[in-house]
Amino acid sequence: MSELIKLGRTDLHVSRICFGCWQMGGTYWGEPDEHNLTAAVRRAIDVGVNFFDTADAYGDGLAEEILGRALKGVSRDKFVLATKVYHHWLGERGSKRVGDLSYEYIIWECEQSLRRLGLDYIDLYQAHSYDYLTPLDETARAFEKLKKDGKIRYYGCSNFTVEQLRYACSVGSFDTIQPRYNLMDRRIEADILPFCLSNNIGVLVYSSLQYGLLTGKFKGSETFNDLRSKNPEFQGQRFKENVDKVNQLIPIAKRTGKTVTQISLRALLEHPAVHCTIVGIKNSQQIEEAAGAMGWNLTREDYYDIRKIFP
Ligand SMILES: NC(=O)c1ccc[n+]([C@@H]2O[C@H](COP(=O)([O-])OP(=O)(O)OC[C@H]3O[C@@H](n4cnc5c(N)ncnc54)[C@H](OP(=O)(O)O)[C@@H]3O)[C@@H](O)[C@H]2O)c1
Repeated sequence: MSELIKLGRTDLHVSRICFGCWQMGGTYWGEPDEHNLTAAVRRAIDVGVNFFDTADAYGDGLAEEILGRALKGVSRDKFVLATKVYHHWLGERGSKRVGDLSYEYIIWECEQSLRRLGLDYIDLYQAHSYDYLTPLDETARAFEKLKKDGKIRYYGCSNFTVEQLRYACSVGSFDTIQPRYNLMDRRIEADILPFCLSNNIGVLVYSSLQYGLLTGKFKGSETFNDLRSKNPEFQGQRFKENVDKVNQLIPIAKRTGKTVTQISLRALLEHPAVHCTIVGIKNSQQIEEAAGAMGWNLTREDYYDIRKIFP
């Protein structure tokens, strides 16, 4: 069942599960399978997921190209598209990248994203990270110009601290933030989420499944040939302890009639400041399962039992 929400003070009505497209870029996640990914995008629309999050940086443009092809022929009012800008290639695509939120770069790169996506406008354009060399009023001027020209509808930020977000809000209409948030990493509950709640800022959170750990699919003995091969959460004793904790979700999932993935995502959506959780998707089965986190609620008891597992 779908569940739509108005994204903060924007007029975007988005599904609470957002289709994450980092996996379409390859690079950190293994070779992308365009056939499976296209099927997953189409399936997403069928199961009530209308919100897609990508970035120019994912596969140096490849993820935007694959998503653009997958959405070809889908009516523009059937989906809401978010992408990001920040990583400036110093030479050819695939070369070294540096942060850049300068006026000229944003105006230029937005055109490149639109071309790769095959779209006339972007619904939500996000500063992927904080650029220490560009005052944010310059960044905001570029975003406002793109808005005025009809290239983007709204803009926001990602990976900003609460102080950077406060500064952003003082110089422009930064309507959303995209921070990291999952059951194992709840740092934003201390500052970013209360700030967003009191300022009606749209919050879409990433790595909601801690790179798949919170699906309950691992035994703790797996080895990886993607970004997880270097992530300490997926190594040795720590990996086993993580799996033991995640397995404690099984009885709660059983009594709710949902899967471990679904209760892990739902627990994030219950926070009143969180509008959407972005889930990184590789195939149709994964988006179908994630979509099943919409349209119902955890009881207060189940919610606090879940939090207790990950103190
Ligand atoms: N703004 C930023 O800086 C930033 C940073 C990171 C991510 N993001 C965004 O957020 C999205 C999600 O975050 P993420 O990719 O870091 O992590 P994530 O969503 O926590 O994990 C993604 C992984 O979870 C697994 N998965 C997803 N659904 C599953 C299901 N139903 N059953 C089993 N496994 C499932 C897949 O693993 P397998 O590979 O094992 O199939 C997938 O690669 C990204 O795609 C991207 O759009 C933004």
